[in-house]
Amino acid sequence: MTYSVAVSGASGYAGGEILRILAAHPDVEIRTVTAHSNAGQPLIQHQPHLRSLAHLTLQETTADVLAGHDVVFLALPHGQSGRFTEALADTPLVIDAGADHRLEAVAEWDRFYGGDFHDPWVYGVPELVVGAGKQRDRLVGATRIAAPGCNASTVSLSLAPGVAAGVIDPSDIVTVLAVGPSGAGKSLKTNLLASEILGSANPYAVGGTHRHIPEIRQALAAARPLVAGRAPVAEPVEAAPADAGIRISFTPVIVPMARGILATSSAPIVPGVSDEQIRAAWQTAYGDETFVHLLPTGEFPRTADVLGANTALMGLAIDRAANRVVVVTAVDNLVKGTAGAAIQSMNLALGLPEGRALTVNGVAP
Ligand SMILES: NC(=O)c1ccc[n+]([C@@H]2O[C@H](COP(=O)([O-])OP(=O)(O)OC[C@H]3O[C@@H](n4cnc5c(N)ncnc54)[C@H](OP(=O)(O)O)[C@@H]3O)[C@@H](O)[C@H]2O)c1
Repeated sequence: MTYSVAVSGASGYAGGEILRILAAHPDVEIRTVTAHSNAGQPLIQHQPHLRSLAHLTLQETTADVLAGHDVVFLALPHGQSGRFTEALADTPLVIDAGADHRLEAVAEWDRFYGGDFHDPWVYGVPELVVGAGKQRDRLVGATRIAAPGCNASTVSLSLAPGVAAGVIDPSDIVTVLAVGPSGAGKSLKTNLLASEILGSANPYAVGGTHRHIPEIRQALAAARPLVAGRAPVAEPVEAAPADAGIRISFTPVIVPMARGILATSSAPIVPGVSDEQIRAAWQTAYGDETFVHLLPTGEFPRTADVLGANTALMGLAIDRAANRVVVVTAVDNLVKGTAGAAIQSMNLALGLPEGRALTVNGVAP
């Protein structure tokens, strides 16, 4: 069977990357691409690297244009996806790359985003440890999927194994991320001009304001409650995930590379846990995964090694002097952080081989 697909936000970075991967997917036909201010123009004018899709024209992003496909990808600014929910009720599979359907707690949405709250959809990070299982179990046969925030999934993948196994204390997580400006989208912003970022590292959303914080708390709260054979580190989740005793200091720094995230995340070691138990937590979680790799002891990843790949590369250090586990993870924000996760989730939802059209190999140098 060939699935007909519509991609909205097709003139943007996330939409463009979804199209790049789907163009090599043998089971889909990209039938419709839509945009907003650039509607009416040839796709190739905005995505000149997508030569095989040069025949497509950007249409208006309306419910009528998006309806009638087997799969619809929404790659719109947050707040724009929710309005299509009802109109696409008959669409078998809708995947939102934006934030509108990621958060479960209304209070978190109000605090970090604001505007109308929309129901949470199945979170599109298949490898994420969820209690005793993996998030992929929930994605099989899903009809509505919320693809992750790129920074959020990077940090959640980095720490979920340790939280689930009860070897790190999630109440004192510190993460600092070097991020490329493509994570902020293609629209013009003064602070993202080349003259502002070239030769400079620029912190932003410092001090607990970044919108990916509640998403990480939610993912790590889901990792924790079903620990097999081990008591959770803190109290069980009673209220919203935000109240689950998971505290994160999160600091992103824009650096001059178009793509990529290098997240350095750390948390205290739970007393009495051995080095072997710590490493085993990550090995158990990712040893059989195709797209998430734990590097050998002493090795740490570079963003250059994952560009264009659906791969998360992870290095783990145990700093006994600081009593912290340190995890360094590299992803391509547009692939593993967005489009790759969305298409991996689509494959699971449709019952296709999970890795179809996705590559573990990066582009180097
Ligand atoms: N960039 C990343 O690394 C990344 C990672 C994870 C998730 N995401 C999410 O993906 C979504 C898209 O991000 P992006 O980085 O691709 O942004 P972007 O490059 O700025 O693209 C935004 C797209 O949305 C369209 N658009 C803008 N306003 C619209 C409206 N009112 N109605 C309909 N379409 C509208 C734009 O069309 P025109 O160009 O025609 O105006 C463009 O195609 C966001 O929700 C973002 O959070 C992005």
